[in-house]
Amino acid sequence: MSRLLIVSNRLPVTIDRRREGISFAQSVGGLATGLASFYKEYDAAWIGWADVPERTGTTERAEIARQLEGEYSAYPVFLSDADVRGYYHGFANKTLWPTFHQFTQYAVFDSSTWQAYVRVNRRFAEAVLAAARAGDTIWVHDYHLMLVPGMVRDRLPEASIGFFLHIPFPTFEVFRMLPWRRELLTGMLGADLIGFHTYDYARHYLDSAIRLTGYEHLFGQITTIDRVVKVDAFPMGIDFRRFADSARSAEVQGETTRIRRKSGERKIILSVDRLDYTKGIVQRLEAFDLFLRRHPEQRERVDLLLVAVPSRTRVEHYRELKQQVDELIGRINGEHATMDWTPVRYLYRSLPFKDLVALYVAADIAMVTPLRDGMNLIAKEFVAAKSGDKGVLILSEMAGAAMEMGEAIVVNPNNREELADAIEEALEMADEEQTERLALMQRRLEDYDVERWASDFIDQLGAIKRVQRHLNARKLTPRAREFLVWDYRQTRRRLLLLDYDGTLMPFSARIEKLRPDPELVALLREIASDAANEVVIVSGRDRRRLERWLGELDIGLIAEHGAWVRERAGEWRMTESLDDAWKAEIRPILDQYVDRTPGSFVEEKDFSLAWHYRRTDPALAQVRSRELQDSLTHLTANQNLGVLPGNKVIEVKSSSIDKGRGALKWLESDGWDFVLSLGDDRTDEDVFSVLPDWATSIKVGIGPSRAKFSLDSVGEVRELLRELVSGDA
Ligand code: UDP
Ligand code: G6P
Repeated sequence: MSRLLIVSNRLPVTIDRRREGISFAQSVGGLATGLASFYKEYDAAWIGWADVPERTGTTERAEIARQLEGEYSAYPVFLSDADVRGYYHGFANKTLWPTFHQFTQYAVFDSSTWQAYVRVNRRFAEAVLAAARAGDTIWVHDYHLMLVPGMVRDRLPEASIGFFLHIPFPTFEVFRMLPWRRELLTGMLGADLIGFHTYDYARHYLDSAIRLTGYEHLFGQITTIDRVVKVDAFPMGIDFRRFADSARSAEVQGETTRIRRKSGERKIILSVDRLDYTKGIVQRLEAFDLFLRRHPEQRERVDLLLVAVPSRTRVEHYRELKQQVDELIGRINGEHATMDWTPVRYLYRSLPFKDLVALYVAADIAMVTPLRDGMNLIAKEFVAAKSGDKGVLILSEMAGAAMEMGEAIVVNPNNREELADAIEEALEMADEEQTERLALMQRRLEDYDVERWASDFIDQLGAIKRVQRHLNARKLTPRAREFLVWDYRQTRRRLLLLDYDGTLMPFSARIEKLRPDPELVALLREIASDAANEVVIVSGRDRRRLERWLGELDIGLIAEHGAWVRERAGEWRMTESLDDAWKAEIRPILDQYVDRTPGSFVEEKDFSLAWHYRRTDPALAQVRSRELQDSLTHLTANQNLGVLPGNKVIEVKSSSIDKGRGALKWLESDGWDFVLSLGDDRTDEDVFSVLPDWATSIKVGIGPSRAKFSLDSVGEVRELLRELVSGDA
């Protein structure tokens, strides 16, 4: 049976080793808590890091593995202390975390931690390969494991692989700072579906992808050399019912009463986070301080309960933050406290689920004001725990959650005055308004809960696999290939219509550099030397260059998409009388685009003009090419001209010529018993469309086409042609 294989750095539970034996506790953090709740519903297995020291003995490791598998279907990856230092404390938390959260001043770029990261990602990929069965869905999570999708893909080309990033994806300007940006980006591209919490992060990723790889995207679908990859936003939800139900349980109610009793008549403002510099804890405390200064009348009327969960304490910036927070709380309490009242009550530890829910229920206001946060589940959990109740959420616009929770008081966490005002507004908000606002958010959270989030992602992964299968359906199968070779051997009058760029020759940034290599010349010569064969190169290139490069061979040539033809041993002739007066009008427009798009240039042929943009900044090129295509389509609407988008080129030519018409010169003569046509581009579709039904057409690359079959690359084309003429079937 096919399963879901979840792969993340953290397992859903942390391992507690004591003299009395091994026990497990729920992990803290959005990823582990979010995934853990739907995980039980699936036939799923989890692969994650066993956070135990290297010195843990083999017997104990085996025992940990046994219990994890038995109780949680989880498979631990054991790492050396050095690898944990380099990969987790180092690259993940000192390089990726600060960079992706726009704390670039904290980011360390160290190639030795990068190497540890690569090593550990490989370890995880191996663990996946060891566990995966055919048909399994592999779902890799978060910034610790960005290379895993690519590594697994290399070994399992057909696998269903999803990747989800739980933190923000920064803009290209920030992402480009990473010396290993290309490896990280393409590692993720090994997945079939890449998910983010918000549309903005998805957009940033697409933008970086096009700039670093040149792969274009349409509606979030990136076309790589051999696959399409989908990029989309899936805002992670929570296990709504678990929080709502637990809030009503007797145990939680008891604890809530205890907390409330301690505060008496005072209002409770709650603040809960891992102690992390992205969470805006210092700014929040400063805002609370400002609020108390501005509103002395509120003294002894509000309590700030601040829970800071210890996190990543081996990283210096986290230790510094701890000290800063301790001092700041000391200062605020020192300044405002009275004999009966301490304004900030501080807990530096992790809370079990029930205690956390009790705090949510007891609080009047939750302040969730991170400076940057991928999603933030605390905000959602607070709202869920308030079902049927009142309460106010103050939420940072920098948290992914703000996209779905517009009914909160949304603030800029860097603006202390605004935060202080928000506290005031929250304290004054009428009960009715509180419940109304909460109810709207609750409905959304209940509807798109973590279960929906996960099943939505898995469904979309299935959908993109279907798109890929559809595009792959035409791949020349070994059987079809065998038949083609067999047919070739049987037949005596064969026509081979071959496109040049992208079919016989791989693309290059310099179009003038694509002179055929000796291997190609020899191959064409060999095919042409068989008296049963007629080879025709069907190209968009100008005739002079084709003549220079291939004129020596005993083959037919079609230039400028059919404007010119040269039969074997014949002269070049125009297929029909063509006019080129329009060029004077169109050329200045293309020149203008050259000026505005550095690296692009115009190629002028006898009867066409082509704007090439392979050497330009891909993101700019994408915008400019769409613009140009639009304006050309308008301009040429009433003329006998066609606008042809090709591979990194837009061509304008008379609409009465196309490669199909050129090919007809050959196709119209009778007696062929074998016709094979190969091409990669939109312009080659015109040839495919005029072929007789029984002919074989092959598209090079993926994408929509009317060809019967497809091949992946120029290399495969040449291999096929070699096989046809090799004689040893
Ligand atoms: N959490 C917990 N115990 C605590 C504090 C927090 O289990 O004492 C959980 C909380 O329920 C939430 C998660 O940790 O699900 C924090 O996720 P969030 O997305 O808010 O922030 P992250 O820590 O992932 O940056
Ligand atoms: C964030 C990350 C998670 C991580 C969690 C806790 O939510 O996205 O991947 O597990 O923080 O951090 P930790 O370093 O303790 O795993």
